[in-house]
Amino acid sequence: MTSHLRLGVNIDHVATIRNARGGLHPDPLRAAEVAAAAGADGITVHLREDRRHITDADLDRLSIGVALPINLEMAATDEMLGIALRHRPHAACIVPERRAERTTEGGLDAAGQHNTLAPIVARLVDAGMRVSLFIAPEERQLEAAARLGAPVVELHTGPYAHATGDAVAAELERLERAVALGAAMGLEIHAGHGLTYDNVLPVARIAALAELNIGHFLIGEAVFTGLDAAIRRMRGLMDLGRAA
Ligand code: PXP
Repeated sequence: MTSHLRLGVNIDHVATIRNARGGLHPDPLRAAEVAAAAGADGITVHLREDRRHITDADLDRLSIGVALPINLEMAATDEMLGIALRHRPHAACIVPERRAERTTEGGLDAAGQHNTLAPIVARLVDAGMRVSLFIAPEERQLEAAARLGAPVVELHTGPYAHATGDAVAAELERLERAVALGAAMGLEIHAGHGLTYDNVLPVARIAALAELNIGHFLIGEAVFTGLDAAIRRMRGLMDLGRAA
């Protein structure tokens, strides 16, 4: 049982808005400071191969200027490995990446890509980072993650978040089963993708979950209520779910 469910706020889309005009506003560093004051436990950024949102310069500034632990989402490439080893963020989350996708679509094929992932996971773990693999909530992927020696997995909540009708309960059950299975394997379990005020409660109730990473909805909601209020409301819902 994990009592405090950590919230990692993904600030990628603050950079997306900034990049739409190419200037300096809105500044992801300022967003990270607001997130810290609003109760976030960590800041998550995805440095993509095409640098469509967060840039190398952002990562430099965030690494120096943010008091919260940084979770770097990264593809399993030599370039990203080099950047992670130079920056040494608190955590590295290995995600699949396709240039043409709008967002991270599926989980990592930890089972099929063992030989590619093994040396990267080992280098990151050896450098002292908390390494996680972003995977679908499937037994095969959990077993593969454990074989790779990753101490943490982040379960893809996209299928749950996008489900409708009876599929919602089925996807939630799949998630719950995967959390229980992963925890029994000794893995620390995180979850994220597509989480909103409307769907976060049942996920927060899963007692063995340690962390949620939430981005797009919070940044979108910030347009209407401000980032501080959006994060505080999400934090409140997570605490409510955890208390249930
Ligand atoms: N976790 C991972 C591994 C992701 O790739 C993303 C999306 O960047 C998220 C969490 C956050 O998803 P969302 O932006 O839909 O909240």
